[in-house]
Amino acid sequence: MRELINSGISGVGMAVPERIMTNADIEQLVETSNEWIVTRTGIKERRVSAPDETVASLGAKAAKLALENAGVTADKLDLIICATTTGDFLWPATACLIQKDIGAVSAAAFDISAACSGFVYALSVADGFIRTGAMKNILVIGADTLTKQLNWQDRNTCVLFGDGAGAVLLAPTQPGYGILSFTLGTDGGKFDVIGIRGGGTRNPITHEGLDLKENTIVMRGSEVFKFAVKIMGDASLNALEKAQLTIKDIDLYIPHQANLRIIKAAADRMGLDENRIFLNVEKYGNTSAASIPIAMTEAAQSGRIKTGDVIVTVGFGAGLTWGANVIRWDCRNGGMG
Ligand SMILES: CC(C)(COP(=O)(O)OP(=O)(O)OC[C@H]1O[C@@H](n2cnc3c(N)ncnc32)[C@H](O)[C@@H]1OP(=O)(O)O)[C@@H](O)C(=O)NCCC(=O)NCCS
Repeated sequence: MRELINSGISGVGMAVPERIMTNADIEQLVETSNEWIVTRTGIKERRVSAPDETVASLGAKAAKLALENAGVTADKLDLIICATTTGDFLWPATACLIQKDIGAVSAAAFDISAACSGFVYALSVADGFIRTGAMKNILVIGADTLTKQLNWQDRNTCVLFGDGAGAVLLAPTQPGYGILSFTLGTDGGKFDVIGIRGGGTRNPITHEGLDLKENTIVMRGSEVFKFAVKIMGDASLNALEKAQLTIKDIDLYIPHQANLRIIKAAADRMGLDENRIFLNVEKYGNTSAASIPIAMTEAAQSGRIKTGDVIVTVGFGAGLTWGANVIRWDCRNGGMG
């Protein structure tokens, strides 16, 4: 049997819209307050995309930076995976638009739809291609522009989300480094807890549907909250066990940045102290599939990650879906560190 090859992150990049929307700005739109939003979610501001700023344009920006960071040119890419649920078109896949924009002439491209777990799913899929030796350079992008699909009159949802993109280059690395394990899961019975009801083939968009704002996000917040707190711990422990590691071995925990209270409650449940958790939810809100690669980029570029560090990423979201990766960071192949 052919020997398996570890895949590691050799470059990171991110892009967020320039426009900042603060909680004070949201106070002008719905019956809410900065105090409510900060105490319930930890979010202080979020980035909002301009009409011509899309998943493809933000994703391509992040992708170019990740390639530059790794010192690899786009023509060397074998595959581009874009994790998103707010792609530019219903189809074709947004990864195809990014492939053209960055000039990845030899790359295949497709999207992964796993909502806020999308980046963890995409990273795990990409790892499989490299592990078997089928491919060498894979760009994994997480990008979303959920503010374009919000009901700005619904205070239950409009305070939570923001836009952005993050990208990593995944390439072969040395044994014992890179992605050590992953776990992925789904509970499709809870498909209706969070999502968008209109615009698909089951419920095509109509004038009446638009009046009812069926093209925007609906959510049962407290159900998501309880699910998230439990699954973050369970998924993290499962992935750590597969890598024969424990909570104590984590150098930096990079969770999906949905809500500070969710992250803190999950960390308490696992016995993980706060100084080992990377947090930026206060600046960006929940950027869905982009939140982990944005956090990873900021962590790597601010010196929070060193070669040899054990990183755990964990995502959860609509589907319901969840997933976690355990990564032993290796900067030797790329431009980081
Ligand atoms: C949405 C969320 C912040 C609400 O916080 P909570 O502490 O659970 O609040 P509750 O749902 O108990 O609602 C309490 C009250 O606040 C109100 N409320 C909701 N949003 C509000 C807002 N932005 N400002 C002020 N009041 C608000 C509710 O209407 C409710 O009022 P009521 O009791 O009169 O009906 C929280 O449930 C959450 O973060 N859930 C997870 C959401 C998420 O992360 N989704 C994406 C997953 S990838």
